[in-house]
Amino acid sequence: MWHLSEEKKTPIYQQIIEQIIGYIQDGTLKPGDRLPAERKLATYYQVNRSTVVHALDELVSLGWVLRRQGSGTIVNEGNWGRSTAPRVDWRRLFTQELHPNEPFLEKVQELLNDPAAIDLFSGELPLGLIPDFRFPSYTWEELLLEEKKQSPLGYRPLQQVICQRVKSEQKIDISSNQVLITSGAQQAMFLLLQVMLQSGDSVAIEDPSFLYSLPIFASAGVKLYGVEMDQEGMRIDKLEQLILTKKIKLIILNPTFQNPTGTTMSKRRRNELIELSRKYQLPIVEDEVFSELTFNKVPPSLKELAPHQVIHLGSLSKIFGSSIKIGWIVADQDLIQRLSEAKQMMDFSISIFPQVIAHTALTDPQFEKNQADLVTALNERAQAFLEESSVIAKDWDISKIDGGIYVYLTWRHQHLTRKDWEIFFREKVVIAPSFLFSNDTMAMRVNYTRMTAHMRQQFFLKLHRISKELRRK
Ligand SMILES: Cc1ncc(COP(=O)(O)O)c(C=O)c1O
Repeated sequence: MWHLSEEKKTPIYQQIIEQIIGYIQDGTLKPGDRLPAERKLATYYQVNRSTVVHALDELVSLGWVLRRQGSGTIVNEGNWGRSTAPRVDWRRLFTQELHPNEPFLEKVQELLNDPAAIDLFSGELPLGLIPDFRFPSYTWEELLLEEKKQSPLGYRPLQQVICQRVKSEQKIDISSNQVLITSGAQQAMFLLLQVMLQSGDSVAIEDPSFLYSLPIFASAGVKLYGVEMDQEGMRIDKLEQLILTKKIKLIILNPTFQNPTGTTMSKRRRNELIELSRKYQLPIVEDEVFSELTFNKVPPSLKELAPHQVIHLGSLSKIFGSSIKIGWIVADQDLIQRLSEAKQMMDFSISIFPQVIAHTALTDPQFEKNQADLVTALNERAQAFLEESSVIAKDWDISKIDGGIYVYLTWRHQHLTRKDWEIFFREKVVIAPSFLFSNDTMAMRVNYTRMTAHMRQQFFLKLHRISKELRRK
């Protein structure tokens, strides 16, 4: 392993660097592995010790390895916030293995183009419920002047508005240099993976979780481990077992109105989670894209409970739809700085247009009222859904709806296979079965907000028919 087989023109120390980076990238060397001692490496490579020292010094400064007094050179375990170099493996992203054609999703895409289909699959509010606002009437020159208000962290007026909202809604005491504007929460997640993790690292998430359906983790070579949930959210005993067996580097969760189950983590569980993350010194990413769509008071955010241990993500997509692709990361200033550098390196700068529009939407004098009306409308739809669901309640266990956009229905009877779910296509009802988010095949995610009274009636009629047929199987 420790020899250079090919003759190359590049200096030997550089070839050694490339080889070691290659071993780390392909997993031959894992985070925490120890490299042979300098003298031994010099013997293996048949070079002077100073050449090896030179190569290792470079690898240290690049962040690939660490030198520890008394324990030699080890592969960096990916301390968070260390590296800003993007490490996306685009080749992996496009391999078949990462994009297996999920036949169910192909059929979903087809049906979503059919006007007769009932779309309870999409993760957005229906158009009729999205708060309306007037577009700003800027001249071109005025827009160019707005452009001058862009900083590496985003369009300053928007950053300030978001900072104020996060402060008042999440009770988090922050300043605007702790807020980075991104193109949606998904881009925020992508940046965090690039900066905080190495290929081969492991992350704990909820099981089920919408994160399973995102290719960004596999493309970064990051392994996802699901942690069982109950009514109070992620189970802390199971999480601790995982931390002890899988060298978890980061915990990512969606504690409020979780996608797909709709579950909200209890306050007690939040405190236990924080305690555990402190015990093992693990950072937490809390993805809070639904927390504003709440019917009652929600428990304090994880960021509020442990400001320095938690990275907070938000987005406007769940209120305004994904046409305004604006999200944000709230974290300590030095991590925000690194994320912003990584964002610039990847040329992920966001155009001024969506930012000006988002700013206009959030500062519209009607916005607070519109948002309150939206929550009232969602609550009405949720209550109507729960009342009308009695016709299928003996077949499906139905989750509570305290906010957010999803309700989770679990089949009460025999084991269902993936194939069984195709029955929904016949009725043109598009839902998201749990196997898209987990190994589980017994439940489905339904976006209840998309149904008017008439659609609900149709849905329950169809679901009643489907359930009868499923029971006979
Ligand atoms: C829990 C959660 N986080 C993040 C996202 C992505 O949000 P955005 O559209 O802002 O990228 C979604 C979208 O489905 C989501 O459900």
